Amino acid sequence: MTDAATAESAFGAMEPHVHRGQCPVQHTALNSGGTRPPLSGYELFDKLRDEAPVHWIDEGRGYHLLTRQEDILAVAQDPLLFSSRYFLPQLGGEPPFILKPVNLDAPEHTKWRRLLAPVFAPGAVAAWDDRIRTRAGELIDDLLPRGGCDAVRDFALRLPTSIFLSLMGLPQSELDQFLLWETAILHPGADGTYAGLSPLEAQDAVTRYFADLLVQRRSAPTTSDEKDLFSLAMTWTFDGEPISDDDLLSFYLLMFEAGLDTVTAELGYGMLHLATHPQDRARLVADPSLIPNAVEELLRVYPIVNSPRVLTRDAEINGCPVRKGEYVVMGMSSAGRDEALFENATTVDFDRTRIPHLTFGAGPHRCLGSHLARHELAIAYEEWHKRIPEYRLADDADFDEAVSGLWGLNSLPLVWDAPASRS
Ligand code: HEM
Repeated sequence: MTDAATAESAFGAMEPHVHRGQCPVQHTALNSGGTRPPLSGYELFDKLRDEAPVHWIDEGRGYHLLTRQEDILAVAQDPLLFSSRYFLPQLGGEPPFILKPVNLDAPEHTKWRRLLAPVFAPGAVAAWDDRIRTRAGELIDDLLPRGGCDAVRDFALRLPTSIFLSLMGLPQSELDQFLLWETAILHPGADGTYAGLSPLEAQDAVTRYFADLLVQRRSAPTTSDEKDLFSLAMTWTFDGEPISDDDLLSFYLLMFEAGLDTVTAELGYGMLHLATHPQDRARLVADPSLIPNAVEELLRVYPIVNSPRVLTRDAEINGCPVRKGEYVVMGMSSAGRDEALFENATTVDFDRTRIPHLTFGAGPHRCLGSHLARHELAIAYEEWHKRIPEYRLADDADFDEAVSGLWGLNSLPLVWDAPASRS
């Protein structure tokens, strides 16, 4: 795709000769909105990792970027020193509200995890498989005769959002509205907006939607024994007291942000890989039992979340002084691609068996939705390749990836022989 030089020009000038303590200082915009060439984020992070374990990124309020798995793991597993009460450090400012439970520390955080663990446990998630499979099948059946599509917009975005609506007990007719909010929050354009909405305005719109729904559901409660997640959360209590409306709204918003675009982004990178590596694709088509391992390997090579933490006291990471109140960003997008940990680290290898990646994070905040995400990804690959085993990037494919806290392709133009034109 792009070489390191073009990747660098996509992010701005690098000045590794300037140091802050022992950390090289990078004047670069890793997260400020807009776009960059596909996969150039990974090339840049690989370069930064090979250069130093800790960089100071001079963007927004400034933050330390950690590039190596060992340091990232240590930070994720030390919540007393590295608090989760962060708010997008690259954007500066203080949080207007916090997302629960991801922005909580113990003991509040522990209470939330206790409530949420059964909802996202492997057994509970397996019960959603049929719904995921049916929805994936419907979407792909609709695309198949077209002979091509934007695999991000038409498939990778729609599948998880549609599953989210069904889990929350919301009508599928809301899909386009939710997709618009999702893009405005997570992938604003270079001017910081999408469809005229800034990320904060879109968050506000989603929160208002959920607040109205809360009122509606209270006046007409779900009578079914099998409650959707929205109604189930309304019954939760902490120490015998019902959860406050503010807490509920914060949780619904987090579900929206954590559960949708993450799976979309992973699916987008996975489909790009498979479209451009026909031998890997042929192996999945011939032997779908490889898919769970392929999912792990694709997650390792294409991590999309780089979570921040805020220092609760002065410390040192790998020789770099870090001070109380400063931000540290765990560069998960570089960690699993480290030659020190994996042979041929940037090569996707479906035969690799030990894949201890940090794509779902680690420590007390490790992704609660990891089992659901794995099921969605595996089923998406299975159903797609059953129906569309042969496909490639469109000849004139011109696409890019988002420059924001969450990485992901903005589009992925694929083509295949539509059934009528197959001989
Ligand atoms: C492949 C897709 C996904 C990736 C790569 C991913 C990644 C992550 C990461 C790295 C974290 C840790 C954040 C931190 O330490 O600050 C996290 C937390 C979380 N994720 Fe995911 N996630 C994915 C899908 C999902 C899904 C589908 C859901 C739910 C429907 C979900 C719900 C959550 C929640 C609730 C948390 C907060 C956990 C806590 O703070 O205790 N995620 N995710």
